[in-house]
Amino acid sequence: MLDMERIPTHVAVVMDGNGRWADKRRMPKMAGHNAGMKAMKEIVKRASSIGIRHLTVYAFSTENWKRSTEEIGGIFKLIVVYVDNELKELHANNVRVKILGDYSMLPADSVDRINKAIDMTKNNTGMQFNIALNYGGRDDIRRATADIARLVQAGEIKPEDITEDMIGDYLWTGKMHADCGDPELIIRTSGEMRLSNYLLWQSAYSEFVFTDVLWPDFTPERFEEAIEEYQGRNRRFGGR
Ligand code: IPE
Ligand code: IPE
Ligand code: MG
Repeated sequence: MLDMERIPTHVAVVMDGNGRWADKRRMPKMAGHNAGMKAMKEIVKRASSIGIRHLTVYAFSTENWKRSTEEIGGIFKLIVVYVDNELKELHANNVRVKILGDYSMLPADSVDRINKAIDMTKNNTGMQFNIALNYGGRDDIRRATADIARLVQAGEIKPEDITEDMIGDYLWTGKMHADCGDPELIIRTSGEMRLSNYLLWQSAYSEFVFTDVLWPDFTPERFEEAIEEYQGRNRRFGGR
């Protein structure tokens, strides 16, 4: 049973396995991404209803540009479809949308929908839904480093003033951006047991739950089971 008193504040998900889900059905890859989007919709609703404050999903990595232009274009189109179909309901559910990553190089219609979603939901006070888009953990750290280097160059701080908290503030998840902090729990579907450049700094003490379920088959029930598994963990943070 889920302990409603101990729901994690921030859960991050690597939505993996859309391609294999489609392959198994001899369907085109896009059918897998489409089914994945449907699964995501249900997870967002459940996460919000059980009181998670921040849900972060990995939608497109800085390495996913290696895929075919057809697949990349298809994924970006899905963003347009998702916002057009779901924004009203997200807003009605008091969800606030934020993006982790520089999405300015996406096609204009995708950028437009993303801006619309951010703008419309910016004053909502319910769950924050963070979409990692053109996100890479190393790029995240590189960008934060460059921002802090500029402060040093401008003479506003000295190198010895740089703290771990300051670096955290300048990451996409930090106070200067989405302000969602580090995830207590990271879930990855499809049986792969790696981070694939997700939240490298932020995952220092995250708990991991891996499942063989392919993302389009990942249900709200399975999501709650992952949280139950997390609730059974003993987090020590290097202490005793
Ligand atoms: C995850 O599914 C979605 C994205 C990376 C956009 P994949 O497309 O990676 O699915 P598999 O790993 O090929 O099965
Ligand atoms: C990670 O999945 C990125 C997203 C889910 C968006 P990938 O499928 O791209 O990762 P690898 O290639 O298996 O490491
Ligand atoms: Mg994959």
